[in-house]
This record gives sequence, C-alpha cells and structure tokens, in this order.
Amino acid sequence: MIAAAPSSKREAVAQGEGLADSRGRWLRDLRLSVIDRCNLRCQYCMPADVFGEDFRFRPLSELLTFDQLTAIAAAFIELGVSKIRLTGGEPLLRPDLPALIRQLRALDDGVDLALTTNGLRLAAMADKLREAGLNRVNVSLDALDPEVAARMAWRPVDPQRVIQAIETAQACGLGVKVNTVIKRGVNDSQIVPLAKLSREIGVTLRYIEYMDVGSTNRWQASEVVTGTEIRQQLKELSEVQPLPGEFGDVARNYRYTDGAGEVGFIESVSRPFCGSCTRARVSAEGTLYTCLFSSHGLPLKPLLAQGNALPALITKAWRKRDDRYSELRKSAKKDSVHPEEMWRLGG
Ligand code: GTP
Ligand code: 5AD
Ligand code: SF4
Ligand code: SF4
Repeated sequence: MIAAAPSSKREAVAQGEGLADSRGRWLRDLRLSVIDRCNLRCQYCMPADVFGEDFRFRPLSELLTFDQLTAIAAAFIELGVSKIRLTGGEPLLRPDLPALIRQLRALDDGVDLALTTNGLRLAAMADKLREAGLNRVNVSLDALDPEVAARMAWRPVDPQRVIQAIETAQACGLGVKVNTVIKRGVNDSQIVPLAKLSREIGVTLRYIEYMDVGSTNRWQASEVVTGTEIRQQLKELSEVQPLPGEFGDVARNYRYTDGAGEVGFIESVSRPFCGSCTRARVSAEGTLYTCLFSSHGLPLKPLLAQGNALPALITKAWRKRDDRYSELRKSAKKDSVHPEEMWRLGG
C-alpha cells in the first residue's frame, strides 16, 4: 500500500499551494464510486425504462478491489486531497463496505470521509460505518408523500424509512445532510413539506437543481426549478439570509432568520460553480473523470500494477484539466458527445 504524507500536504493545499489545473483550480476532493448498481431508478438519474430489471451492471469481479480503491485514495491524498466521498450507484450495496472505510481511515486520520446514499440500507449500517471511521453522510430524500417519492424513484420508497435512517445516523454521531432534487411537475409540491421536516429534525437540506447529466434522463430546461424560485417558496416558513461559503463548495448555504437552522442550494444550472471546482471522480471500475459531464476518462487500473505510477499520471491529467461544462451549458453542443451516466462516473 502507498504511504501518504497527509497533514503537511493538506496544510500546503489550504494555503493555496495545491495541485492546480489549467484554470487555477486545485485538487481537493475525490469522489470514489464503489459500485455502479442501485436499488432505485430515480427518473433523473437511472430511468427504469432504459435501465430495466434485466439491465446488466458490471459484475462485482470487475470492480476495483478494496486494496485498489485504497491505493487510489492514497495517491490522491498524496496530491493534496482532503475530502473523500464514497458514491455509487448506491454505495451501501457494496458488500462489506465498513472494511473499506476502515482501510481508508487507516491512510489518514484527518481526511474528511463521507458517503452519499439513498438511505434505504443506512439505518442498519450507520453504527458500523461510524465505527469504521466515516465522518458524514448525505442522504437523498425527494418527497415526504410516498406516492410522489415512488414516482421520482420509479420504485416504492417509504420516506419514513429514510427519515428514520437519517435520525439513526445523527444518533450515531455521523454528520448528516439531506439532498433533494426538484423536478417541476413531479415533486415541486414537496419543497415546503421537506423544509418543514428538516427544520423539525435539525438537519440541513440542500435543494438540487435538476441537471442534464448523462444521456438518458430526457432533461428539459423547463423542468428545472431554480434555487431562486425555491427560496421564494420558503418565505412562507421564514426569510433566509446567505452565509459565507468556502472555495470548492457546491452548495450555497443560507440561514433561516427565525433561527431554525440552515438550508442549502446546489444551483449548477442557474448559478454554475465550475470556477471553483476542486473535484475528481473515479468510477467503480477505475476510470478517472475530471468533470461530471465528461464523455471520456482515464483508466487507472493498468497503472495500479506499476508501483507508484498513479500520482504522476493524476498530476498530468489534473494539470491539463479545462472542464467547465455547467458554465458552457448554453453554448455546449451536447449532441456531439455522449456524456457518461452520473451513476457510472462517481456521482
Ligand atoms: P458536501 O461535501 O457535503 O458538500 O458534498 P457534496 O454536496 O459535494 O456531495 P453530494 O454527493 O451530496 O452531491 C450533492 C449534489 O451536488 C449532487 O447532485 C451532485 O451531483 C452535485 N455535485 C457535486 N459535485 C458536483 C460538481 O462537481 N458539478 C456539478 N455540476 N454538480 C455536482
Ligand atoms: N440532477 C441533479 N442531481 C442529481 N442526482 C442524481 N442525478 C441528478 C440529476 N440529474 C443527485 C442525487 C443525489 C446525488 C448523488 O446526485 O439525488 O443526491
Ligand atoms: Fe440510485 Fe442515487 Fe441514482 Fe437514485 S440518484 S438512481 S438513488 S444512484
Ligand atoms: Fe466541476 Fe464539471 Fe461540475 Fe463544472 S460541471 S462544477 S467542472 S464537475
């Protein structure tokens, strides 16, 4: 296993001496997919009519092993990464995930280790994940009304089960945030009810603008509910006031002026944040992508066998990085490329 030299590197990165791409954006975050499959079929991500019951995901034997995932994480830490997020598909479907978290935690005490999940398996696992060294979870919840939730997820989802998982994770000492994608005409009725719930249970909810990611979700601009529209609706509960953010944040955070906590907005359509994008993504079979909207990536698996070759290769790829799809969205000719699905490339 590669030995990382974390804390001094992290300090250098914090002082702006990280590995910079061609637009001066330093490498800070790694989104590491541990599995491509999912137990839901959210219509904005993995539509069931395209990815049906008989769709063949990658066999587990083709996925990176825990040792390979750990070697990749070590290389990124060596290059200054201080946040690692495990994604999928649904990462809790990867067998024995706490063992991977234990391996990653052993690399570096200080790295922020997080996970993005749909929450269906979280209640049963939260304790083990925390114990293994996970710091935080972001849990997706798109509706409180079970019928609306099922329409979004294309499968029966019990929102109460996800809420229970959120509360269990909080009780275990995990940091918890809720992610809500809003699609006009499908779950926009849930904006205020979900805000009420998050204020009651003391969790920060982030509203995510529906993105044109991948090639299969049939995105239309008219289906995007912008952060501005949502903030307008939230006035029925409380005024909100913007909070200062940090370079690299995807969410713009606001506080409820009545004191009931915070709320976030991930506005990659109406207010893109490519200018401060510090995120690299690695798919479950080991391909490096430097943008969520990439159509091509760099296979890392062949290099894993070659001793300590990864940091040099990642450095080269990051230095030449010029991605900024969300900023170019209006002028980008999307028909000419076939962007990879989000659940394939690290969420
Ligand atoms: P925190 O560290 O908790 O803020 O995590 P995060 O918000 O970066 O991660 P999460 O997996 O919860 O992502 C929330 C939403 O932000 C998802 O819809 C992501 O696809 C979106 N998102 C994350 N990173 C990017 C990015 O680099 N570009 C775009 N366009 N969207 C992103
Ligand atoms: N637009 C916006 N967010 C999306 N997610 C998945 N697909 C999309 C999309 N098309 C979100 C999920 C989850 C996170 C990993 O990404 O809801 O919160
Ligand atoms: Fe699965 Fe998450 Fe995609 Fe929904 S958004 S289909 S839960 S990977
Ligand atoms: Fe980063 Fe690409 Fe998202 Fe822009 S569109 S924020 S460059 S991942």
